Amino acid sequence: MTVVRFEPAGVEVDDVQVGTALVDVTDEHPESRVPYSCRSASCGTCRVQVLEGLDGLSEIEDEEQDVLDIFGDGPDVRLTCQIKLAEPVGKVTLRVLDADLA
Ligand code: FES
Repeated sequence: MTVVRFEPAGVEVDDVQVGTALVDVTDEHPESRVPYSCRSASCGTCRVQVLEGLDGLSEIEDEEQDVLDIFGDGPDVRLTCQIKLAEPVGKVTLRVLDADLA
């Protein structure tokens, strides 16, 4: 069982299953306040800093890395629209970088 927590909203979603796209989790829980625009690794609106559980997330594809490089982000920043839960880690904590846009 993996818990996914979203900051700064302080929202926790329990029992996220391996293979689940986080965009589906946030669509079901809009109180998580992750903003989206393109939903296809183009705009960077949905960037999150992974505070915990990075090892449980799907690998970064080239498209996603290209966007993160434009923003000059480090390896702890991901695009929520591209992340799937890949391993059953106990907890994933994400800090939404543009929460004010949601
Ligand atoms: S919504 Fe545009 S990169 Fe995720």
